[in-house]
Amino acid sequence: MCGIFAYLNYNATRERRHIVDLLFNGLRRLEHRGYDSAGISTDADPCCAPLTVSSGAVLRSPPPLVFRQEGKIENLVSSFHHEAVVAELDLELSFTSHAGIAHTMSATHGEPSPINSHPETSGEGNEFLVVHNGIITNYMDLKGTLLRYGFHFESDTDTEGIPKLAKFVRDSLNQDLGSDGGDKQVVPFTQIVMDVMRQLKGAYALIFKSSYYPNELVACKRGSPLLLGVKETGDMRTDINVESDLSAEGHHGKPKQYYLASDANAIVEHTRRVLVIEDNEVVHMKDGAVHVFKFDSDKSRRLLRPASVQRGLSTLEMEVEQIRKGNFEHFMQKKIHEQPDSLTMTMRGRLIRGREQKAKGILLGGLKDHLKTIRRSRRILFIGCGTSYNAALAARPVVEELSGIPVTMEIASDLLDRQGPIYREDTAIFVSQSGETADTLQALEYAKSNGALCVGITNTVGSAIARGTHCGIHLNAGCEIGVASTKAYTSQIAVIVMLALALGDDSLSTQQRRNAIMDDLYNLPSKVRDVLKLDKHMKELAALLMDEQSLLVFGRGYNYATALECALKVKQVSLMHAEGIVAGDMKHGPLALVDETIPIIVIATRDACLNKQQSVRQQLKARKGRLIVMCTEGDAEFMCPDRRCRIIEVPKVQDCLQPIINIVPLQLLAYHLTVFRGFNVDQPRNLAKSVTTQ
Ligand code: F6R
Repeated sequence: MCGIFAYLNYNATRERRHIVDLLFNGLRRLEHRGYDSAGISTDADPCCAPLTVSSGAVLRSPPPLVFRQEGKIENLVSSFHHEAVVAELDLELSFTSHAGIAHTMSATHGEPSPINSHPETSGEGNEFLVVHNGIITNYMDLKGTLLRYGFHFESDTDTEGIPKLAKFVRDSLNQDLGSDGGDKQVVPFTQIVMDVMRQLKGAYALIFKSSYYPNELVACKRGSPLLLGVKETGDMRTDINVESDLSAEGHHGKPKQYYLASDANAIVEHTRRVLVIEDNEVVHMKDGAVHVFKFDSDKSRRLLRPASVQRGLSTLEMEVEQIRKGNFEHFMQKKIHEQPDSLTMTMRGRLIRGREQKAKGILLGGLKDHLKTIRRSRRILFIGCGTSYNAALAARPVVEELSGIPVTMEIASDLLDRQGPIYREDTAIFVSQSGETADTLQALEYAKSNGALCVGITNTVGSAIARGTHCGIHLNAGCEIGVASTKAYTSQIAVIVMLALALGDDSLSTQQRRNAIMDDLYNLPSKVRDVLKLDKHMKELAALLMDEQSLLVFGRGYNYATALECALKVKQVSLMHAEGIVAGDMKHGPLALVDETIPIIVIATRDACLNKQQSVRQQLKARKGRLIVMCTEGDAEFMCPDRRCRIIEVPKVQDCLQPIINIVPLQLLAYHLTVFRGFNVDQPRNLAKSVTTQ
């Protein structure tokens, strides 16, 4: 639940001000990953004499500077400028080569404070500094050992042991090699990092900086995302190989700038040329060259040069505009309004039209070799968390209807807690916007070990879930920066509906139904554009509800998920208590809550459940409930004959697509409620975009 960023310029002269601004900006692009505290490390003035020994060799450069602060990035920025003045730091000073690291944190171990922030350090001399995204599960054991060796700990984090371990490893390797502990840099930086990795359990992406290895950075990862961006001035080649080309003789001298980040958002404004770092890879940047090595767990081979990885850079598909708010005040607002476009992107190339724009079929390239196996499954399991779970729940009925296969729903953590049974004949579908949610990822490992076919539905190309599944479908919805998931939700439903259509496309009996769904899919972006016109209406409703304590949302059938998702959005961003209730269960408890004070949204758009929802509405009315009814355009009179409830009228589409239309005004409601209540829409309290810890 953190964001890490690093910037290294080689032979490209940059002022300290530029470097620091670049680090801060990288953090701003990652702030949705955590905003409890932040920190950076930059190089000290080169004029401060480096530490040398009698042979004249550099023992280490002046200790890097570390700035850490609790609170949002802007807190760090202002405290940095304050400290810079006090320390008379020269911001105009130029560095031809410089390696900086940065971190933004969602606190998991210890309260937010400068001491509990990263970069974590090996000790007073800042010999090793580390920024970390993930969780180290054996940190207490590590700490115990290092305490016995005389290390002093000051924070509560699970990361502090890592730089200390790096120092310990370096000192002992040097001793093993007969060096006097530092007059030559006998041990390569990568060697130290690999030795550290051998001791770590858990999930991590780590970036190491060290005063022993000035102008070098080493990064490694296992389970948490990490991307390397490469910007080379001069001739730009598109498909170069990191190992052989960037490090090739004669290629070194060119000015280069490298970026490491948890998300593409922090890289795309600098370069589109990236390398997605894979688990158990170690990246080393030195003298203008990048080497990627495969981690070798065999300790006996620790002093041999590790195997290098040969892989070409890829090109980021995203647009720089996606990481900016444009004319909107908040990212959440922008993402809600982007949904006509994100849905178009999700369906592009997949919804095939025949003559006269008639529906013809669905093409899901990522599943083409696996559709037959899925059709033969004994059961389909949808597995996800939060909004992703809700999206799968919304699409479940159409998967059951068109595939004829039983579908079970699993919240990833609950499946793991129960160790629920999964079989070889099952297809397990993992739904995750980020593709890195820890519970979903662990459930994936569990399903794989039980032999199920694993399918991924994610919005992040190259994410752990995308790579770990046997096959999958990308949402192509564009990056989601606000913490609350909005456009990913509607794209997830659209993708699962397309999956249902593809699974059922050999059945003649459902042909007509499938054609009707495909026609409505085709028109979906324009219907979403229509429903977005309710913005003003939802703002007025939010103004009426802003001081309420609680909100109930009743849905059923296709829109049970809409009720859950509306309640999740309202509580997540506006911090108002809200509860999504399956309307069929009303009389089994929730009805007791109803009186003339509590506002209740009843979702009653036209589908097979309409009459039942009409009856629910009547019963709630009989208990004096304050009703807000969501109904199909033209049904206001029918749903609210006495005109004493508030109405949200939405366009009609096929029942299985209706949740996509229905959630949009409710997202707008959650958004406006939050603004009226004065909370931060994009950075809800205690939450972070990607939950990479359990
Ligand atoms: C709600 C929200 C969360 C996520 C959940 C799963 O708006 O954003 O509930 O949906 O943490 O995240 P992903 O989809 O990335 O696995």
